[in-house]
Amino acid sequence: MVRGIHLPHEVDQIRDLEIRDSDVFVVTYPKSGTVWLQQILLLLDSKGDMDSIAKKAVFSITGLVPWIESNGQVQMFVKAESPRYRVTHLPYHLMPKELILKKGKVIYVARNPKDVLVSFYCFHKMAKMLETPKGFDEFFDKFMRGEVGSGSWFEHIKGWISHKDDLNMLFITYEEMIQDLHTAVRRIAEFLEADLTQDQLNSVVKHSTFKNMSQIPKSNMELMPDDMFDHKEGRFMRKGIIGDWKNHFTVAQNEQFDEIFNQEMKDFPVPFIIKD
Ligand code: PPS
Repeated sequence: MVRGIHLPHEVDQIRDLEIRDSDVFVVTYPKSGTVWLQQILLLLDSKGDMDSIAKKAVFSITGLVPWIESNGQVQMFVKAESPRYRVTHLPYHLMPKELILKKGKVIYVARNPKDVLVSFYCFHKMAKMLETPKGFDEFFDKFMRGEVGSGSWFEHIKGWISHKDDLNMLFITYEEMIQDLHTAVRRIAEFLEADLTQDQLNSVVKHSTFKNMSQIPKSNMELMPDDMFDHKEGRFMRKGIIGDWKNHFTVAQNEQFDEIFNQEMKDFPVPFIIKD
């Protein structure tokens, strides 16, 4: 059992799933850009045709790029036609063993954990399946102890990046996507061997900006039922920026974070400037 992680009933079956070369898993710790990648994958698949995605009869784009760990999804995955695009927050050791044979593709999206913490805190207030935090300070302490859904940020990223070379993996950060979405989308397209014209790539970029995604109800989770999301408490597409942690952390919390980060990540160089 992994501390803080909500495991599906079928978790043991995930380990033994047969993987096809065309399978793609987007792997994230919560609040690191999962929905952003769902949007980009769907747009690449449709060659930038947003209308064809908008027409699909689903409440959210998660209906089109599902969570592998949601209950009932294992059977759906086995029966699904290729290409099978899935997202997951699962740690490395619970994912299909065959990934290590370099079958399928993994896109790991990482985000400055200080911004993850703030986004996750705000999400806890709107998501009814998550315990409402008493306040930011309590949530900060729980996050640092790894006592939140999906467990420790540090364990998650270390588990995955220590196997980077064993897998067919693209590592990309939320920050580089914010800074240059065009280059990020091109890198993702190349990794997936998606053959798009320049105009089609431009369309993928256009429909995956924060501004445009915020106006798409299925991407902004606006159609999710009230018993799942308290829409009065906030929006899923909240701010979409780098550095919002500065509006929430105290000086002492920032120092504590840096100390733990430096200790936990000393043997795992990741391209984060956590001061920004
Ligand atoms: S979840 O609940 O784990 O699936 O959340 P996830 O999708 O991983 O992360 C949600 C945060 O990603 C931001 N987001 C974006 N930022 C910039 N540009 C685009 N296009 C974009 N799409 C999603 C979203 O706003 C959440 O971050 P915060 O900081 O809360 O705004």
